[in-house]
Amino acid sequence: MLKGKKILIGITGSIAAYKIPLLVRMLVKENAEVKIVMTDSARDFVSPLTLATLSKNPVFSEAFDSITGQWNSHVDLGLWADLFLITPASANTLAKMTHGIADNYLLTVYLSARCPVFFAPAMDVDMYQHQSTKDNIRKLVQRGHHLLAPTSGELASGLCGEGRMMEPEAIFNEIRRHFRTKQLFRDKKILISAGPTYEAIDPVRYIGNHSTGKMGVEMAKAFANAGASVKLVLGPTSLRVDYPLIEVFPVTSALQMYEACLAFSAEADILVMSAAVADYRPEKMEETKIKKSVESIDLKLVKNPDILKKLGELKNENQFLAGFALETDNELENAWHKLNTKKADLIVLNSLADEGAGFGTDTNKVICITKDGTQRNFELQSKRELAHNLIQYIYELTGKKQANA
Ligand code: PMT
Repeated sequence: MLKGKKILIGITGSIAAYKIPLLVRMLVKENAEVKIVMTDSARDFVSPLTLATLSKNPVFSEAFDSITGQWNSHVDLGLWADLFLITPASANTLAKMTHGIADNYLLTVYLSARCPVFFAPAMDVDMYQHQSTKDNIRKLVQRGHHLLAPTSGELASGLCGEGRMMEPEAIFNEIRRHFRTKQLFRDKKILISAGPTYEAIDPVRYIGNHSTGKMGVEMAKAFANAGASVKLVLGPTSLRVDYPLIEVFPVTSALQMYEACLAFSAEADILVMSAAVADYRPEKMEETKIKKSVESIDLKLVKNPDILKKLGELKNENQFLAGFALETDNELENAWHKLNTKKADLIVLNSLADEGAGFGTDTNKVICITKDGTQRNFELQSKRELAHNLIQYIYELTGKKQANA
């Protein structure tokens, strides 16, 4: 699985560094090529000799060898890697990565890397929970880096809580999974809708909903990581999506989303409608701000077009159409109804009755139902993880669809 994959590991100063030789061993056993950069403080926790012996490559900490003068190009190393894994990633390094500070060799390599970046934080619980660390991690994730979230447990300080580096076996599995799905959708074209729509009442007010776009954006990233070209029609959101293979088409209203989705639908192999589209819009948008001179106003709403339904009508036999369903009650019954009436191949049902699921959260819990009557449950997990699992599932379903055609 990892044969010939070039994996660059960046080690920073944390006690968890003592576990990295195990990870290196696992990767080398799977025939990956491993190179290592480490900060000076990482050397206090794990020996470069151990790492060089296990990786079968010299370990780098400096831009040049002070005795021989040999130049270790950070650019070459950054470009060499298929994946750059920074583990353990200290709070200090996370902060510098966030702000583009390049005051050591590892950070210059980081700034030169064009490959996917994974990072596994390790630190004491209070450092991990500090707002500045949280902000840095959020920004790195928004940048498209893959967080290998720390676990909770006993820490080297004797305190107990979040901050333990993900175990080497789990990191190894994440890397394997990354390469396994990497090319699943190579050359496929994917259309995704995500986020809310805003339906203008007047120039300053609108009807909207609580969708942040997180779920759909994670779906887009998962497909892109798997080699697909993604068109993401994105409603108003504070998320910034600057990601290889994803073209973003920002829209505001349901009508704009409808136009954009229809314009791109014919060329898509897989269509995933995860947006929370407003079902109704004000019949008329006032040209100036409505003044509060009267006690009440009537707002007449008219129905918006149903994008998923329209795509279901237009769908050809080679296309795969997935919709989401957000329910609060009679969840499964409503979801089956949507699957059938909108002619989707798959409905991903999430319920606001489930804690941690639905709008705004970083996690979700869903039940997938398909046209051929099957049902698969995905327990509560991060939206990133779920997106990854959903695209694997869609891969299975599209394979079945082709086999039955
Ligand atoms: O964005 P997040 O904060 O991460 O939250 C994620 C989410 C909860 C928005 C997402 O997981 C989700 O459930 N999206 C669908 C929400 C929704 O509007 O569900 P619905 O049951 O009302 O619609 C069913 C399907 O029809 C959806 O695929 C929807 O995109 C589509 N639809 C609905 C109305 C409409 N006019 N056109 C549509 O295409």
